[in-house]
Amino acid sequence: MDLKLENRVALVTGSGQGIGRTIALALAAEGAHVAVNDVNVKGVEETADLVRQSGGKAIAAPFDITNLDAVKTMANKIEGELGRIDVLVNNAALLISHEMFLDTNPEDCDKEIKVILFGTMNCARAVLPGMIKRRFGKVISIVTDAARVGQERQCNYSAAKGGVISFTKSIAKEVGRHNINVNAVSPGATNSPMRMEMLRQLKENIGEAKAAEREEKVKRAYALRRIGEPDDIANAVVFLASEAARQITGQILSVNGGFAMLG
Ligand SMILES: NC(=O)c1ccc[n+]([C@@H]2O[C@H](COP(=O)([O-])OP(=O)(O)OC[C@H]3O[C@@H](n4cnc5c(N)ncnc54)[C@H](O)[C@@H]3O)[C@@H](O)[C@H]2O)c1
Repeated sequence: MDLKLENRVALVTGSGQGIGRTIALALAAEGAHVAVNDVNVKGVEETADLVRQSGGKAIAAPFDITNLDAVKTMANKIEGELGRIDVLVNNAALLISHEMFLDTNPEDCDKEIKVILFGTMNCARAVLPGMIKRRFGKVISIVTDAARVGQERQCNYSAAKGGVISFTKSIAKEVGRHNINVNAVSPGATNSPMRMEMLRQLKENIGEAKAAEREEKVKRAYALRRIGEPDDIANAVVFLASEAARQITGQILSVNGGFAMLG
C-alpha cells in the first residue's frame, strides 16, 4: 500500500519521549519530514537525532504548546525550514496525579487541561490556516479510552481528553470542506516510559508480588490479554496520516486490545 507520506511534513507534539517519539520515528520511516516538539529540550534533540540516524529528516521545535504565541512562532519556524505542515499530531499530555477527584488540587487540574485541551486547540489554531490555504491536511490527536469509558483517579485528565474528542468531531465538520481530515487515536494502557514509571512506583508502594498481581488483573480487562506498545499507537497514526485513510474523518479510533468496544 502506498501511504503517500514521502516528503510530507509532520509536527508531532510531545515527541521528546514515549509514544510521541515512536510516532515521529514511524512517520519518518514512511518518508515524512518531522518537526519534533516538546518542552523537554534534551528529549527533542534525542528524538531528532534518532530520526536522522534512521535516515530521515527532522528539526527541533522545543516550544511550550500552552502558549499560543510560542505555538505560532513554532509553526512559522517549521514552515520556514520545512516548507509547510501537512500533518499535525497532537500527542503532548500531562497526567500529574492518580488521585480521586476531590483529593486533586485545582492548580494541577488547570495544568493538565491547559496542556491537553488548550495545547491541542493552540496547535490547531496555528496550523490549520496553512492547511486550508493548501487544501490539504491531516490532524490526529492522541486521546485515551479513559475519556471514552471513564476512569477513576483520572478525572481531570479524562475531562481534558474528552474535550479533545469533542473538538476533533466539531473541527472535522468545519474543515472537511478544505480537504482536511481530523481524527483521534484512543490508546488503552500502553507501555510507554510514563506507564513503566507508574508501574515502578506501584511496585515501590505495594511490593513486587502485589504489583504483578494487579498487572495480571489489568491484562484480564483486555480481550487480547496484552498491554499496548508505543508502536501499536504509531501504526494507527501513520495510517490516519496517510492517503489510505482519506475517507475517514471525525472518528475516534481505539487502539486498546479490546479493553472497551464502542459502537
Ligand atoms: N501510556 C499510556 O498508557 C497512555 C494511555 C492512553 C493515552 N495516552 C496518551 O498518549 C500520549 C503519549 O503518552 P506517553 O505515555 O508517551 O506520555 P509521556 O508523558 O511520556 O509523553 C508526553 C510528552 O508531552 C510533553 N509535554 C508536556 N507538556 C508539554 C507542553 N506544554 N508542550 C510540549 N510538550 C509537552 C512531555 O514533556 C512528554 O514528553 C499522551 O497524549 C497520553 O495522554 C497514553
